[in-house]
Amino acid sequence: MAALSDLLAPGRAGEERDGYLDLLGAGEDPTGSRPGQRLMASRVLPLIYERLWRPLGGRVLMGALGPGMAGERRIALEMLGLGAGDAVLDVACGPGNFTRAFADAVGAGGVVVGLDASRTMLAQAVRERPDGNPARPAYVRASATDLPFRDGSFDAVCCFAALYLIEDPLLAVAEIARVVAPGGRVALLSSVARGPLPAGVSDAVVRPLTGVRIFGRDDLTRALADGGLVDVRRRVSGLAQFVSARRPGSNPAAP
Ligand SMILES: C[S@@+](CC[C@H](N)C(=O)[O-])C[C@H]1O[C@@H](n2cnc3c(N)ncnc32)[C@H](O)[C@@H]1O
Repeated sequence: MAALSDLLAPGRAGEERDGYLDLLGAGEDPTGSRPGQRLMASRVLPLIYERLWRPLGGRVLMGALGPGMAGERRIALEMLGLGAGDAVLDVACGPGNFTRAFADAVGAGGVVVGLDASRTMLAQAVRERPDGNPARPAYVRASATDLPFRDGSFDAVCCFAALYLIEDPLLAVAEIARVVAPGGRVALLSSVARGPLPAGVSDAVVRPLTGVRIFGRDDLTRALADGGLVDVRRRVSGLAQFVSARRPGSNPAAP
């Protein structure tokens, strides 16, 4: 079984703080300055995020007929195809609302890491971490655009509901592709432009006001393919897209 310390790239050291490993300096905050981005680093939002904000946000993005939170968890688990003992990374994990489901899926022999740049989100993730579960996730404060892990260190990487808030999302996708092991899988959930307006126009209106980026239909699928991933598949639900892919080959470290 790998431990968090085995997955970190050489030279990446941080400070253990409030139950998570902080790999960003005291003044470093890559979360962005627009309103939606600042909310993620606020004190109040993490308290209501999982039970109120995120379910409502999912409905706004995917409509009343969208999958809902249980459905999204099922889709993530399906796309990641997790097995006992896997190493899993949840990028921009927020309060760990998906991270904990991954820990349950891989069991005590696996390792699950939730990564986020927001101290308040991570503090909430640590509070929500179940005591009795032998597969408790480890949490790390770092930037999605500079993942502190070795190349090919994870069997599965998830990034749900975050790329649209990340300042340089295509760099984050490149980083996600870099840390997936041969045979490993990726699952993304983000926005997608629909309707008559080109993505650039919708984005130019929505992003300055909210911080939420509207992706063109091929932006994420192309970025994954550019990162060397194959079997890139997209499923659109309302104004959201679920995208999955895998790195070719098989993981020599797999049991
Ligand atoms: C809307 S939450 C998503 C949480 C969870 N993945 C979900 O699906 O509900 C977006 C998260 O992205 C994080 N985030 C934004 N920019 C980031 C960056 N550059 N690096 C790491 N995390 C970032 C925010 O702090 C926030 O916790």
